Amino acid sequence: MKTISVHTPSASYPVVLGRGALARLGATVEALRRDGEVYLLSSRRVWRFWGRELLRRLRHVTRNRVILFDDRETAKNLATVEEICRKLAKSRADRQVLLIAAGGGVVGDVAGFIAASYLRGVRIVHVPTTLVAQVDSAIGGKTGVDLPEGKNLVGAFHQPEAVVADPVVLETLSARQFRSALYEVIKYGVIGDASLFRFLERKMERIVKMDYRALEFMIERCVRQKARVVKLDEREGGLRQVLNFGHTIGHALEALTGYSRFLHGEAVGWGMLGTTLIAVGLGRIDEGSAARIASLVVRCGELPALPSISPAALFSAIAGDKKARNGRVGWVIPCRIGAANIGVAVPDRLVEAAWRELPHFYAHAHREVTA
Ligand SMILES: NC(=O)c1ccc[n+]([C@@H]2O[C@H](COP(=O)([O-])OP(=O)(O)OC[C@H]3O[C@@H](n4cnc5c(N)ncnc54)[C@H](O)[C@@H]3O)[C@@H](O)[C@H]2O)c1
Ligand SMILES: [Zn+2]
Repeated sequence: MKTISVHTPSASYPVVLGRGALARLGATVEALRRDGEVYLLSSRRVWRFWGRELLRRLRHVTRNRVILFDDRETAKNLATVEEICRKLAKSRADRQVLLIAAGGGVVGDVAGFIAASYLRGVRIVHVPTTLVAQVDSAIGGKTGVDLPEGKNLVGAFHQPEAVVADPVVLETLSARQFRSALYEVIKYGVIGDASLFRFLERKMERIVKMDYRALEFMIERCVRQKARVVKLDEREGGLRQVLNFGHTIGHALEALTGYSRFLHGEAVGWGMLGTTLIAVGLGRIDEGSAARIASLVVRCGELPALPSISPAALFSAIAGDKKARNGRVGWVIPCRIGAANIGVAVPDRLVEAAWRELPHFYAHAHREVTA
């Protein structure tokens, strides 16, 4: 087990990581709680699997301080925030309160936003229970909820007091959810960690089978990288954009398919492949590295097939993405394995060519891997 420190201009906190981290939750919370009450925020689904274990670790949290809510993406909204804030207010939770968010990215984003805004800010500890949450959303302090007009449109930056990430909880995650997060892990390798990328090349089959030693190393590398990026750019002024590799196309794909065909990570998987082709087209990355990226993506598991989408529809979805400024898109383009450029302008014809080539690129990598 390891403790990794995250330092940002606004806060510093430990990420307790590895098998056995959950057993340390009680002590972590005890050290932080001061005189305040502790409230545990989670979802019914997570609770079914891990509720008993969490309560066992948190002896001073009574059942009536547990607030369970719907963690479907469709419930990641202001109504859920209001419902939970009212429960806190009714039980007279004051500014000394310590919240514990146990769940995936939805639980963390909702609970994090409540921590940022209830009584103008209270403290929170994240216990991420999905791979996405462990390698990404629990670290960095971005919180928020969706509006009917778009995802994550209302939110705040609010760093936690601590993060407690135990890979054992991933055991109950669906295989598809788990694999989908691995595309984001590959992303970390491509944009900033060549040794993580090589590790994934060596161990992908073990990781997919949930070999804990491999998982721990992998999660640690992701957390360290996210911590590095967040330290330099807490509020997403520039550098943090690098984490958006694969997301320009990924977000467009999610939007064009009504958020139902792909899990987010799967859309990012396609997005990384498309962007890698663009990088080849720009002459920024060599074909050998591009083939390695494609091969690793394929080895995570089968991606849901691409629907037929015209280049025009793709362009308009890309321009509608929140991260596009005045319709101008700054692409994150890998320049080798382990490094990427941000804010790159890409001519439309290259995007279109990559989009047409994408199914063939995937099929080719698939044949190579299964040969
Ligand atoms: N704040 C950030 O920086 C950031 C970063 C990435 C993603 N996000 C957000 O995170 C959300 C996605 O998060 P996610 O991928 O963790 O999905 P999720 O929170 O939707 O969880 C996926 C499913 O897994 C279930 N689940 C959670 N833990 C489980 C466990 N241990 N065993 C069994 N089932 C479990 C959940 O109940 C849910 O049904 C999105 O809303 C996204 O916008 C935020
Ligand atoms: Zn993502």
